[in-house]
Amino acid sequence: MIPSAQAGPESRPATDAEPDGSTPLRLQVNGRYREVVVAPATPLLTVLRNDLGLNGPKYGCGLGECGACTVLIDGIAARACVIPAGGVTGRSITTLEGLGSSDAPHPVQQAFIDAQAAQCGYCLNGMIMATVALLARCPRPTDTQARDALAHNLCRCGTHIEILRAVQRAAELTARATADAGRLTESPE
Ligand code: FES
Ligand code: FES
Repeated sequence: MIPSAQAGPESRPATDAEPDGSTPLRLQVNGRYREVVVAPATPLLTVLRNDLGLNGPKYGCGLGECGACTVLIDGIAARACVIPAGGVTGRSITTLEGLGSSDAPHPVQQAFIDAQAAQCGYCLNGMIMATVALLARCPRPTDTQARDALAHNLCRCGTHIEILRAVQRAAELTARATADAGRLTESPE
């Protein structure tokens, strides 16, 4: 996404640190620059959920093992629970909220709806974000490639079959959306 503000200093000088170690940090989240005052070692997930009110990414294990907290950093799926907020200033962070909305879901979100790929839904943030990252590098994944890409995202409810169907549906919808966008940008004769 395109940032809504001009690029500026990534964070204020360290001399602005509070006595408890909190420091103003400027993060680019879902195309907007957001400033928070936190200790730089604070997990990105904590900042997203507690400071920015972005509850798409979920807290599962807190150890980088379950994938519930997945976000995209410069388009790559990453585990926000083990990434210090101070380490991602100047990077583009995308959360589930940055993909689409209830009224206009992202093709991957629509695919998960179509495939009814949820029971409790707790894992879905990670499954969807990992699928977005997968399709960006591999637009038509085989079932094996989809399984490999999601192998480290845990679903305790056992909706794996539906999730794999959702990945294939997401590939179809993404290809269709890309083709539609291409037609719209074609200049008339
Ligand atoms: S909560 Fe981050 S990987 Fe489990
Ligand atoms: S749907 Fe419940 S953890 Fe996956």
